[in-house]
Amino acid sequence: MKGVSGLKVGIVGAGHVGLPTAGALAKLGHHVTVTDTDAPRIEALGRAEIPFFEPGLQELIAEGIASGRLSFTTDPAPVARESAAVFICVGTPPRATGEANLVAVEKSALAVAQHAVDSLIVVEKSTVPTGTSDRLAKALARSNPRASFELVSNPEFLREGHAVEDSLHPARVLVGSDSPDALKVMRELYQPIIDGGAAYVETDQRTAELAKHACNAYLALKISFANALARICELSDADVVSVTNVMGMDPRIGPGHLHAGLGYGGSCFPKDLAAFERLVERLGYNFPLLGEIKRINDEAVTSVFSKIEEVLWNLEEKRVVLLGLSFKPGTDDVRFAPALALARLLVDAGAEVVGYDPVANELAASEVPGLKTAESVHEALDGAHCAVLCTEWDEFRTLDMNSARSAMAFPIMIDGRNLYESSDMADAGFTYVPVGRRSVSPVIEDRLLADSL
Ligand code: UDX
Repeated sequence: MKGVSGLKVGIVGAGHVGLPTAGALAKLGHHVTVTDTDAPRIEALGRAEIPFFEPGLQELIAEGIASGRLSFTTDPAPVARESAAVFICVGTPPRATGEANLVAVEKSALAVAQHAVDSLIVVEKSTVPTGTSDRLAKALARSNPRASFELVSNPEFLREGHAVEDSLHPARVLVGSDSPDALKVMRELYQPIIDGGAAYVETDQRTAELAKHACNAYLALKISFANALARICELSDADVVSVTNVMGMDPRIGPGHLHAGLGYGGSCFPKDLAAFERLVERLGYNFPLLGEIKRINDEAVTSVFSKIEEVLWNLEEKRVVLLGLSFKPGTDDVRFAPALALARLLVDAGAEVVGYDPVANELAASEVPGLKTAESVHEALDGAHCAVLCTEWDEFRTLDMNSARSAMAFPIMIDGRNLYESSDMADAGFTYVPVGRRSVSPVIEDRLLADSL
């Protein structure tokens, strides 16, 4: 703890994981320096300008800077020399094979480690396959024989859109290391969070790495299980929302991540599941269930596409509006967003596809050629033949359905997140098509549709 109250900590990678972690550790009283190779990003962060949308993060970073405990630099040397622990928070994107690409983890850890003078704790926060910390330990030792490195796996469990809350008040903190000294420092680092009541789990580094993949694969499994049930409900005229509600009431199952709809996206589940599948294959274990989770998730999008085709018939010259483009509410992240997968299918089928998202329009339009975006939900719905609820932003929960119906050419709502009530939608004069539940089609709408076709 080199001369100050609180520990000195380095964060490598100023992204979705690094910044909430840095802000939270500074708030806990530690002295945090964030380093990243992206100079404009680091410069902007010095002025508390955040490079992406995450509720509460700007305030947390500004507070850290004002307290004098949070700073930003492109130079890894002082971070290596002065920190008790350095957290690696860089991306682990999928390779074409699905395997995790760990080049950034190795490169960024080496960039810091080469400046270490005595001992340094290197903490993996990025999600990595089990065994990575052992390989990293060897690479670091080779790169700088003057220093000694102790490896820790401390996976993040934060959710985008809730990253600040999840960093400050996590349900559990998982710390894995073979080094008792490193475990001691990590405990000191997290003491205020432990005192706040979070569960604190200490284990070895390989178990911690595996536990993170296991959690994300299991959460993705729950979502795909709910989506498979949705297909079965559609085939048997049962109601998936009631089925999953009943399941969630069993404390052994729990209600979370059982919402059927367009399926999961984002920067974690798709890539972590693929990486876990490759890892398991490499280890020689046959686990086809992992492949099924992804297949059912892909089917969640194609199933909604089929519903659109079913109600609109030919898609050429039809205006289809996507309400929400980010992979979930509370973020502008569109990585693996189900809305964009649906947009691509619709564009390929010849529809005029117009998206509206409160924060993700620009990123989405840059990802999907042919996707138009609108500045407001009403601009989007103007003349639309069908609206598809893709992301359950609050703005869509409170949508005035009467004015939506008046703006649209055909009052048709496909609800990709089961956000609305069938009876409300029928009352507002909509043909309403949810997922895994019975559709409603007001008599008046059928007549209008027939007249227009
Ligand atoms: C996830 C994990 O929750 C988090 O612990 C981990 O650290 C990173 O990955 P995140 O990707 O931010 O976090 O979002 P999450 O809230 O888990 O949702 C992921 C996706 O699943 C979203 O696209 C969401 O719309 C979808 N989802 C979630 C469902 O389709 N149904 C559900 O019941 C829950």
